[in-house]
Amino acid sequence: MRHMWWLADLITKRGGKPTMEHKELNFGGDDLKGMLQRQIQLESEGIEIYTQQIAEIPDEEVVGVLKHILDEEKRHRKEFKERLEKYME
Ligand SMILES: [Fe+2]
Repeated sequence: MRHMWWLADLITKRGGKPTMEHKELNFGGDDLKGMLQRQIQLESEGIEIYTQQIAEIPDEEVVGVLKHILDEEKRHRKEFKERLEKYME
């Protein structure tokens, strides 16, 4: 949610209009293991997209925010992986 506000702010500053439209969300998983695996997958997809955008966007401020978000997503993925490992013990 915080990330969404940061990105909306960047878009607005550049004369754009943020939208709440998005693809269908699937947080998936029938049980805790499945949910944690799905969260890890979603974080990985986000990490891939942010990494690609950082490489392509020629805007220092946007890249700075994206790098910050990328670090947080990496931390989230690590936390979900640790939870999954604990659960599997
Ligand atoms: Fe995340």
